[in-house]
Amino acid sequence: MPIISIEQAGKYDGQEVTIRGWLYNIRESGKLVFPIFRDGTGIIQGVCALKENPEAFQALKGLTQESSVIVTGTIRAEQRAPGGFEMGVSKIQVLQKVSEAQPYPIQLKEHGVDFLLDHRHLWIRTPRQASILRIRAEAVRAARNYMDSQGYILTDAPMFTPAACEGTSTLFEVNYIDDQKAYLTQSGQLYIEATAMALGKVYTFGPTFRAEKSKTRRHLTEFWMLEPEAAYADLADMMTLAEGLVSAVVQSVLANKSIELETLKRDTKKLENVKAPFPRITYEEAIAILNKHNNPTKFGDDIGGDEETIVSNEFDRPVMVHRYPAAIKAFYMQPDAERPDLALAFDMLAPEGYGEIIGGGQRIHSLELLKQRLQEHHLPEEAFNWYLDLRRYGSVPHAGFGLGLERTVAWICGTEHIREVIPFPRMIYRVYP
Ligand code: 4AD
Ligand code: MG
Repeated sequence: MPIISIEQAGKYDGQEVTIRGWLYNIRESGKLVFPIFRDGTGIIQGVCALKENPEAFQALKGLTQESSVIVTGTIRAEQRAPGGFEMGVSKIQVLQKVSEAQPYPIQLKEHGVDFLLDHRHLWIRTPRQASILRIRAEAVRAARNYMDSQGYILTDAPMFTPAACEGTSTLFEVNYIDDQKAYLTQSGQLYIEATAMALGKVYTFGPTFRAEKSKTRRHLTEFWMLEPEAAYADLADMMTLAEGLVSAVVQSVLANKSIELETLKRDTKKLENVKAPFPRITYEEAIAILNKHNNPTKFGDDIGGDEETIVSNEFDRPVMVHRYPAAIKAFYMQPDAERPDLALAFDMLAPEGYGEIIGGGQRIHSLELLKQRLQEHHLPEEAFNWYLDLRRYGSVPHAGFGLGLERTVAWICGTEHIREVIPFPRMIYRVYP
Protein backbone atom coordinates (compact mmCIF):
# COMPACT_ATOMS: atom_id res chain seq x y z
CA MET A 1 0.00 0.00 0.00
CA PRO A 2 1.63 3.27 -1.04
CA ILE A 3 1.91 5.95 1.65
CA ILE A 4 1.19 9.22 -0.13
CA SER A 5 0.93 12.92 0.66
CA ILE A 6 -2.42 14.57 0.08
CA GLU A 7 -1.03 16.88 -2.60
CA GLN A 8 -0.31 13.77 -4.71
CA ALA A 9 -3.78 12.25 -4.30
CA GLY A 10 -4.79 13.10 -7.87
CA LYS A 11 -2.13 10.72 -9.20
CA TYR A 12 -3.72 7.76 -7.38
CA ASP A 13 -7.28 7.92 -8.73
CA GLY A 14 -8.93 4.53 -8.18
CA GLN A 15 -6.13 3.17 -5.99
CA GLU A 16 -5.99 2.28 -2.35
CA VAL A 17 -3.46 4.41 -0.45
CA THR A 18 -2.47 5.45 3.07
CA ILE A 19 -2.32 9.03 4.32
CA ARG A 20 -0.67 10.10 7.59
CA GLY A 21 -1.99 13.27 9.13
CA TRP A 22 -4.57 14.87 11.39
CA LEU A 23 -8.34 15.19 11.51
CA TYR A 24 -9.11 18.75 10.42
CA ASN A 25 -12.89 18.59 10.67
CA ILE A 26 -15.72 16.06 10.59
CA ARG A 27 -19.38 16.10 9.62
CA GLU A 28 -21.65 13.26 10.68
CA SER A 29 -24.85 12.37 8.89
CA GLY A 30 -26.62 9.27 10.20
CA LYS A 31 -24.79 6.21 8.98
CA LEU A 32 -22.18 8.23 7.10
CA VAL A 33 -19.27 10.34 8.34
CA PHE A 34 -17.38 12.90 6.26
CA PRO A 35 -14.01 13.56 7.86
CA ILE A 36 -11.57 16.09 6.41
CA PHE A 37 -7.93 15.13 6.83
CA ARG A 38 -4.88 17.38 6.56
CA ASP A 39 -1.24 16.35 6.36
CA GLY A 40 0.55 19.65 5.80
CA THR A 41 0.55 19.30 2.02
CA GLY A 42 -3.20 19.83 1.64
CA ILE A 43 -6.62 18.68 2.78
CA ILE A 44 -8.78 15.82 1.54
CA GLN A 45 -12.34 14.89 2.31
CA GLY A 46 -13.11 11.33 3.32
CA VAL A 47 -16.31 9.31 3.32
CA CYS A 48 -17.00 6.31 5.53
CA ALA A 49 -20.21 4.26 5.79
CA LEU A 50 -21.24 2.27 8.87
CA LYS A 51 -22.48 -0.56 6.70
CA GLU A 52 -19.33 -1.09 4.64
CA ASN A 53 -16.61 -0.24 7.18
CA PRO A 54 -18.07 -0.52 10.70
CA GLU A 55 -14.70 -0.43 12.46
CA ALA A 56 -13.44 2.70 10.71
CA PHE A 57 -16.88 4.29 11.12
CA GLN A 58 -16.85 3.76 14.88
CA ALA A 59 -13.31 5.09 15.17
CA LEU A 60 -14.23 8.22 13.24
CA LYS A 61 -17.56 8.91 14.89
CA GLY A 62 -17.03 11.56 17.56
CA LEU A 63 -13.32 11.81 16.77
CA THR A 64 -11.99 15.15 17.95
CA GLN A 65 -10.41 17.87 15.84
CA GLU A 66 -6.61 17.56 15.38
CA SER A 67 -6.47 13.92 16.54
CA SER A 68 -3.55 12.29 14.74
CA VAL A 69 -4.53 9.52 12.32
CA ILE A 70 -3.20 7.09 9.74
CA VAL A 71 -5.95 6.45 7.21
CA THR A 72 -6.24 3.95 4.38
CA GLY A 73 -8.77 4.16 1.59
CA THR A 74 -9.47 4.46 -2.10
CA ILE A 75 -8.93 7.76 -3.91
CA ARG A 76 -11.63 8.77 -6.37
CA ALA A 77 -12.40 11.84 -8.39
CA GLU A 78 -15.19 13.92 -6.87
CA GLN A 79 -15.85 17.30 -8.43
CA ARG A 80 -17.58 18.70 -5.36
CA ALA A 81 -14.72 17.86 -2.98
CA PRO A 82 -12.02 20.44 -2.24
CA GLY A 83 -9.05 19.56 -4.45
CA GLY A 84 -11.22 17.47 -6.78
CA PHE A 85 -10.61 14.09 -5.04
CA GLU A 86 -11.96 12.29 -2.00
CA MET A 87 -11.05 9.16 -0.09
CA GLY A 88 -13.37 6.26 0.62
CA VAL A 89 -12.02 5.37 4.07
CA SER A 90 -11.63 1.65 4.81
CA LYS A 91 -9.23 1.65 7.75
CA ILE A 92 -8.11 4.16 10.34
CA GLN A 93 -5.58 4.08 13.13
CA VAL A 94 -5.87 6.85 15.73
CA LEU A 95 -2.44 7.65 17.13
CA GLN A 96 -3.65 10.17 19.65
CA LYS A 97 -7.19 11.20 20.25
CA VAL A 98 -7.45 14.81 21.43
CA SER A 99 -9.26 14.78 24.75
CA GLU A 100 -12.87 15.96 24.77
CA ALA A 101 -12.21 17.56 28.13
CA GLN A 102 -9.46 19.71 26.65
CA PRO A 103 -10.38 20.21 23.01
CA TYR A 104 -8.17 21.81 20.37
CA PRO A 105 -8.31 25.53 21.13
CA ILE A 106 -8.63 26.78 17.57
CA GLN A 107 -12.16 26.02 16.45
CA LEU A 108 -13.31 26.37 12.87
CA LYS A 109 -14.85 29.75 13.56
CA GLU A 110 -13.44 33.25 13.57
CA HIS A 111 -11.07 33.98 16.43
CA GLY A 112 -9.59 37.32 17.44
CA VAL A 113 -6.06 37.94 16.24
CA ASP A 114 -4.58 38.18 19.76
CA PHE A 115 -5.99 34.76 20.58
CA LEU A 116 -4.57 33.37 17.34
CA LEU A 117 -1.14 34.94 17.99
CA ASP A 118 -1.11 33.46 21.51
CA HIS A 119 -1.71 30.10 19.82
CA ARG A 120 0.62 30.69 16.89
CA HIS A 121 2.19 27.24 17.44
CA LEU A 122 -1.21 25.74 16.57
CA TRP A 123 -2.54 28.45 14.27
CA ILE A 124 0.09 27.53 11.65
CA ARG A 125 -1.80 24.24 11.11
CA THR A 126 -4.73 25.93 9.40
CA PRO A 127 -4.72 25.64 5.60
CA ARG A 128 -4.42 29.39 5.14
CA GLN A 129 -1.39 29.73 7.41
CA ALA A 130 0.24 26.62 5.99
CA SER A 131 -0.21 28.04 2.46
CA ILE A 132 1.46 31.30 3.48
CA LEU A 133 4.46 29.43 4.92
CA ARG A 134 4.76 27.35 1.75
CA ILE A 135 4.76 30.52 -0.35
CA ARG A 136 7.40 32.02 1.95
CA ALA A 137 9.59 28.94 1.39
CA GLU A 138 9.11 29.22 -2.37
CA ALA A 139 10.04 32.92 -2.26
CA VAL A 140 13.24 32.07 -0.37
CA ARG A 141 14.11 29.28 -2.80
CA ALA A 142 13.46 31.48 -5.84
CA ALA A 143 15.43 34.38 -4.39
CA ARG A 144 18.45 32.22 -3.62
CA ASN A 145 18.28 30.62 -7.05
CA TYR A 146 18.19 34.01 -8.71
CA MET A 147 21.14 35.37 -6.74
CA ASP A 148 23.16 32.22 -7.39
CA SER A 149 22.30 32.35 -11.12
CA GLN A 150 23.65 35.92 -11.25
CA GLY A 151 27.01 34.82 -9.84
CA TYR A 152 26.49 36.17 -6.31
CA ILE A 153 28.22 34.18 -3.55
CA LEU A 154 26.41 33.60 -0.26
CA THR A 155 28.52 35.01 2.60
CA ASP A 156 26.67 35.09 5.91
CA ALA A 157 26.96 38.18 8.09
CA PRO A 158 27.17 37.94 11.89
CA MET A 159 24.20 38.56 14.19
CA PHE A 160 26.26 40.07 17.03
CA THR A 161 27.79 43.39 16.02
CA PRO A 162 29.77 46.13 17.75
CA ALA A 163 27.97 49.05 16.07
CA ALA A 164 24.84 50.41 14.41
CA CYS A 165 24.19 50.16 10.68
CA GLU A 166 20.76 51.76 10.34
CA GLY A 167 20.54 54.44 13.01
CA THR A 168 21.03 54.09 16.75
CA SER A 169 17.38 54.43 17.77
CA THR A 170 16.41 50.86 16.83
CA LEU A 171 19.38 48.93 18.25
CA PHE A 172 18.90 45.90 20.49
CA GLU A 173 21.67 45.86 23.03
CA VAL A 174 22.99 42.50 24.17
CA ASN A 175 24.94 41.82 27.33
CA TYR A 176 27.80 39.97 25.66
CA ILE A 177 30.33 37.81 27.52
CA ASP A 178 32.11 39.52 30.45
CA ASP A 179 29.96 42.65 30.18
CA GLN A 180 31.14 43.58 26.73
CA LYS A 181 28.47 45.47 24.87
CA ALA A 182 27.16 44.12 21.60
CA TYR A 183 24.12 44.70 19.41
CA LEU A 184 21.90 42.47 17.33
CA THR A 185 22.49 43.26 13.67
CA GLN A 186 20.13 45.67 11.90
CA SER A 187 21.56 44.73 8.51
CA GLY A 188 24.46 42.63 7.25
CA GLN A 189 25.48 45.36 4.84
CA LEU A 190 28.70 46.56 6.45
CA TYR A 191 30.03 42.99 6.56
CA ILE A 192 29.10 42.12 3.01
CA GLU A 193 30.83 45.27 1.84
CA ALA A 194 33.93 43.50 3.20
CA THR A 195 33.10 40.13 1.60
CA ALA A 196 32.32 41.93 -1.70
CA MET A 197 35.88 43.31 -1.70
CA ALA A 198 37.06 39.72 -1.14
CA LEU A 199 34.77 37.86 -3.57
CA GLY A 200 33.34 40.47 -5.96
CA LYS A 201 29.60 39.77 -5.88
CA VAL A 202 28.08 38.50 -2.65
CA TYR A 203 24.88 38.32 -0.63
CA THR A 204 23.72 37.51 2.85
CA PHE A 205 20.27 36.22 3.79
CA GLY A 206 19.29 35.97 7.39
CA PRO A 207 17.45 37.47 10.33
CA THR A 208 17.93 41.13 11.21
CA PHE A 209 16.68 43.00 14.26
CA ARG A 210 15.21 46.42 14.90
CA ALA A 211 13.83 47.67 18.18
CA GLU A 212 10.95 49.22 16.25
CA LYS A 213 8.58 51.04 18.53
CA SER A 214 6.15 51.35 15.63
CA LYS A 215 3.04 49.20 15.81
CA THR A 216 2.24 49.09 12.10
CA ARG A 217 1.28 46.25 9.81
CA ARG A 218 4.70 46.54 8.15
CA HIS A 219 7.00 46.28 11.17
CA LEU A 220 8.51 43.31 12.96
CA THR A 221 11.37 43.47 15.46
CA GLU A 222 12.92 40.38 13.86
CA PHE A 223 12.69 39.99 10.10
CA TRP A 224 14.64 38.36 7.30
CA MET A 225 16.59 40.35 4.78
CA LEU A 226 18.32 39.33 1.56
CA GLU A 227 21.20 41.71 0.90
CA PRO A 228 23.36 41.66 -2.22
CA GLU A 229 26.54 43.73 -2.50
CA ALA A 230 28.83 44.10 -5.52
CA ALA A 231 32.23 45.68 -6.08
CA TYR A 232 32.54 47.96 -9.14
CA ALA A 233 28.76 48.41 -9.20
CA ASP A 234 26.63 51.55 -9.13
CA LEU A 235 23.07 52.59 -8.33
CA ALA A 236 21.73 51.67 -11.79
CA ASP A 237 23.29 48.18 -11.59
CA MET A 238 21.49 47.57 -8.30
CA MET A 239 18.13 48.74 -9.61
CA THR A 240 18.51 46.27 -12.48
CA LEU A 241 19.42 43.46 -10.09
CA ALA A 242 16.52 44.36 -7.78
CA GLU A 243 13.87 44.28 -10.51
CA GLY A 244 15.24 40.98 -11.80
CA LEU A 245 15.17 39.47 -8.32
CA VAL A 246 11.63 40.60 -7.49
CA SER A 247 10.30 39.49 -10.90
CA ALA A 248 11.91 36.07 -10.45
CA VAL A 249 10.44 35.63 -6.97
CA VAL A 250 6.91 36.66 -7.98
CA GLN A 251 6.91 34.61 -11.19
CA SER A 252 8.22 31.52 -9.34
CA VAL A 253 5.46 31.74 -6.75
CA LEU A 254 2.86 32.14 -9.51
CA ALA A 255 4.24 29.13 -11.39
CA ASN A 256 4.78 26.79 -8.44
CA LYS A 257 2.33 27.79 -5.71
CA SER A 258 -0.95 28.32 -7.54
CA ILE A 259 -2.94 26.06 -5.17
CA GLU A 260 -1.68 28.02 -2.17
CA LEU A 261 -2.52 31.36 -3.81
CA GLU A 262 -5.99 30.00 -4.49
CA THR A 263 -6.36 28.96 -0.83
CA LEU A 264 -5.53 32.57 0.06
CA LYS A 265 -8.03 33.81 -2.56
CA ARG A 266 -5.26 36.04 -3.89
CA ASP A 267 -6.14 37.99 -7.03
CA THR A 268 -3.16 36.86 -9.13
CA LYS A 269 -3.96 39.15 -12.09
CA LYS A 270 -2.09 41.94 -10.33
CA LEU A 271 0.97 39.74 -9.80
CA GLU A 272 1.18 38.66 -13.42
CA ASN A 273 2.35 42.16 -14.44
CA VAL A 274 5.32 41.94 -12.13
CA LYS A 275 7.99 41.58 -14.79
CA ALA A 276 11.15 43.64 -15.34
CA PRO A 277 11.70 46.41 -16.26
CA PHE A 278 10.04 48.34 -13.45
CA PRO A 279 9.43 52.08 -13.65
CA ARG A 280 12.14 54.29 -12.12
CA ILE A 281 11.36 57.77 -10.85
CA THR A 282 13.40 60.27 -8.85
CA TYR A 283 12.48 61.33 -5.34
CA GLU A 284 11.62 64.75 -6.77
CA GLU A 285 9.25 63.16 -9.29
CA ALA A 286 7.65 61.21 -6.43
CA ILE A 287 7.10 64.49 -4.56
CA ALA A 288 5.45 65.91 -7.69
CA ILE A 289 3.07 62.91 -7.83
CA LEU A 290 2.21 63.45 -4.15
CA ASN A 291 1.57 67.16 -4.64
CA LYS A 292 -0.63 66.37 -7.64
CA HIS A 293 -2.75 64.30 -5.23
CA ASN A 294 -2.92 67.21 -2.77
CA ASN A 295 -0.42 65.59 -0.42
CA PRO A 296 1.74 68.35 1.14
CA THR A 297 5.07 66.42 1.23
CA LYS A 298 7.95 68.69 0.25
CA PHE A 299 11.64 68.24 -0.58
CA GLY A 300 13.49 66.93 2.46
CA ASP A 301 10.52 65.07 3.96
CA ASP A 302 10.47 61.33 4.44
CA ILE A 303 8.08 59.41 2.23
CA GLY A 304 5.90 57.60 4.78
CA GLY A 305 3.54 54.65 4.39
CA ASP A 306 0.55 56.65 3.15
CA GLU A 307 2.72 58.53 0.68
CA GLU A 308 4.23 55.29 -0.62
CA THR A 309 0.72 54.05 -1.39
CA ILE A 310 -0.16 57.19 -3.35
CA VAL A 311 3.03 56.96 -5.43
CA SER A 312 2.81 53.21 -6.08
CA ASN A 313 -0.87 53.47 -7.11
CA GLU A 314 0.32 55.27 -10.26
CA PHE A 315 1.94 52.07 -11.54
CA ASP A 316 0.89 48.50 -12.35
CA ARG A 317 4.08 46.93 -10.94
CA PRO A 318 6.66 47.88 -8.30
CA VAL A 319 8.24 51.30 -8.76
CA MET A 320 11.79 52.30 -7.85
CA VAL A 321 12.28 55.76 -6.36
CA HIS A 322 15.89 56.98 -6.48
CA ARG A 323 18.05 59.94 -5.45
CA TYR A 324 16.66 60.85 -2.05
CA PRO A 325 17.93 63.86 -0.10
CA ALA A 326 21.18 62.75 1.55
CA ALA A 327 20.02 64.33 4.81
CA ILE A 328 17.27 61.72 5.34
CA LYS A 329 19.36 58.67 4.45
CA ALA A 330 21.96 56.55 6.26
CA PHE A 331 25.56 57.68 6.82
CA TYR A 332 27.10 55.40 4.18
CA MET A 333 25.21 56.70 1.11
CA GLN A 334 27.30 57.97 -1.82
CA PRO A 335 26.28 61.49 -2.88
CA ASP A 336 25.27 62.17 -6.48
CA ALA A 337 28.25 63.86 -8.19
CA GLU A 338 25.94 66.31 -9.98
CA ARG A 339 23.72 67.04 -6.98
CA PRO A 340 25.70 66.43 -3.75
CA ASP A 341 22.56 67.12 -1.70
CA LEU A 342 21.10 63.90 -3.13
CA ALA A 343 22.14 60.37 -2.19
CA LEU A 344 22.53 57.61 -4.78
CA ALA A 345 19.90 55.63 -2.90
CA PHE A 346 16.78 53.84 -4.05
CA ASP A 347 13.70 52.23 -2.54
CA MET A 348 11.42 49.78 -4.29
CA LEU A 349 7.74 50.29 -3.48
CA ALA A 350 5.38 47.37 -3.94
CA PRO A 351 1.92 47.89 -5.43
CA GLU A 352 -1.42 47.62 -3.60
CA GLY A 353 -0.29 49.66 -0.60
CA TYR A 354 2.43 47.27 0.59
CA GLY A 355 5.07 50.00 0.59
CA GLU A 356 8.84 49.74 0.67
CA ILE A 357 10.15 46.23 0.13
CA ILE A 358 13.72 47.16 -0.84
CA GLY A 359 16.14 49.87 0.29
CA GLY A 360 19.65 50.28 -1.04
CA GLY A 361 22.09 52.23 -3.16
CA GLN A 362 25.70 53.11 -3.78
CA ARG A 363 28.14 53.35 -0.86
CA ILE A 364 30.68 56.05 -0.08
CA HIS A 365 34.10 54.83 -1.23
CA SER A 366 36.15 57.88 -0.17
CA LEU A 367 37.86 57.47 3.22
CA GLU A 368 37.69 61.20 3.98
CA LEU A 369 34.00 61.60 3.18
CA LEU A 370 33.07 58.47 5.15
CA LYS A 371 34.94 59.71 8.23
CA GLN A 372 33.14 63.03 7.90
CA ARG A 373 29.74 61.32 7.72
CA LEU A 374 30.45 59.18 10.78
CA GLN A 375 31.12 62.41 12.66
CA GLU A 376 27.99 64.10 11.35
CA HIS A 377 25.93 61.10 12.46
CA HIS A 378 27.64 60.99 15.88
CA LEU A 379 28.86 57.44 15.30
CA PRO A 380 32.00 56.25 17.12
CA GLU A 381 34.90 55.99 14.65
CA GLU A 382 36.68 53.24 16.66
CA ALA A 383 33.79 50.81 16.16
CA PHE A 384 33.97 51.41 12.42
CA ASN A 385 37.74 51.23 12.05
CA TRP A 386 37.59 47.88 10.26
CA TYR A 387 34.91 49.32 7.93
CA LEU A 388 37.15 52.30 7.15
CA ASP A 389 39.92 49.80 6.19
CA LEU A 390 37.77 48.89 3.18
CA ARG A 391 38.37 52.49 2.01
CA ARG A 392 42.09 52.37 2.86
CA TYR A 393 42.99 49.23 0.96
CA GLY A 394 41.88 49.24 -2.65
CA SER A 395 38.62 51.17 -2.32
CA VAL A 396 36.26 50.91 -5.31
CA PRO A 397 32.74 52.15 -6.09
CA HIS A 398 30.28 49.55 -4.83
CA ALA A 399 26.58 49.18 -4.22
CA GLY A 400 23.92 46.88 -2.82
CA PHE A 401 20.47 46.69 -1.31
CA GLY A 402 18.31 44.87 1.21
CA LEU A 403 15.05 43.12 0.36
CA GLY A 404 12.68 42.60 3.29
CA LEU A 405 11.40 39.04 2.97
CA GLU A 406 8.25 39.42 5.06
CA ARG A 407 7.09 42.59 3.34
CA THR A 408 7.64 40.93 -0.03
CA VAL A 409 5.79 37.76 0.96
CA ALA A 410 2.95 39.74 2.58
CA TRP A 411 2.44 41.56 -0.71
CA ILE A 412 2.57 38.36 -2.77
CA CYS A 413 0.10 36.65 -0.41
CA GLY A 414 -2.09 39.74 -0.04
CA THR A 415 -2.11 39.45 3.78
CA GLU A 416 -3.24 42.38 5.83
CA HIS A 417 -0.29 42.31 8.23
CA ILE A 418 3.25 40.97 7.89
CA ARG A 419 2.95 39.05 11.18
CA GLU A 420 1.23 36.21 9.29
CA VAL A 421 4.10 35.51 6.90
CA ILE A 422 6.79 34.48 9.40
CA PRO A 423 6.34 31.30 11.45
CA PHE A 424 6.76 33.02 14.82
CA PRO A 425 6.44 36.81 14.57
CA ARG A 426 8.36 39.05 16.94
CA MET A 427 6.76 42.43 17.50
CA ILE A 428 6.86 45.32 19.91
CA TYR A 429 4.70 43.56 22.51
CA ARG A 430 5.10 39.93 21.50
CA VAL A 431 7.84 37.38 22.03
CA TYR A 432 5.49 34.48 22.93
CA PRO A 433 5.19 31.69 21.84
O1 4AD B 1 15.73 50.17 4.07
P1 4AD B 1 16.47 49.35 5.07
O2 4AD B 1 16.56 49.88 6.45
O3 4AD B 1 17.92 49.15 4.45
C1 4AD B 1 19.00 48.57 5.05
O4 4AD B 1 18.98 48.00 6.11
C2 4AD B 1 20.22 48.54 4.18
N1 4AD B 1 21.40 48.43 5.05
C3 4AD B 1 20.13 47.37 3.22
C4 4AD B 1 21.29 47.29 2.26
O5 4AD B 1 21.49 48.22 1.50
N2 4AD B 1 22.03 46.21 2.28
O6 4AD B 1 15.85 47.90 5.14
C5 4AD B 1 15.75 47.12 3.98
C6 4AD B 1 14.39 46.46 3.89
C7 4AD B 1 13.22 47.43 3.82
O7 4AD B 1 13.02 47.87 2.50
C8 4AD B 1 12.08 46.56 4.31
O8 4AD B 1 11.61 45.72 3.26
C9 4AD B 1 12.76 45.69 5.34
O9 4AD B 1 14.14 45.69 5.06
N3 4AD B 1 12.50 46.18 6.69
C10 4AD B 1 11.62 45.63 7.56
N4 4AD B 1 10.79 44.59 7.43
C11 4AD B 1 10.02 44.27 8.49
N5 4AD B 1 10.05 44.92 9.67
C12 4AD B 1 10.88 45.97 9.85
N6 4AD B 1 10.93 46.58 11.03
C13 4AD B 1 11.72 46.37 8.76
N7 4AD B 1 12.66 47.33 8.58
C14 4AD B 1 13.11 47.19 7.33
MG1 MG C 1 14.54 51.86 3.99
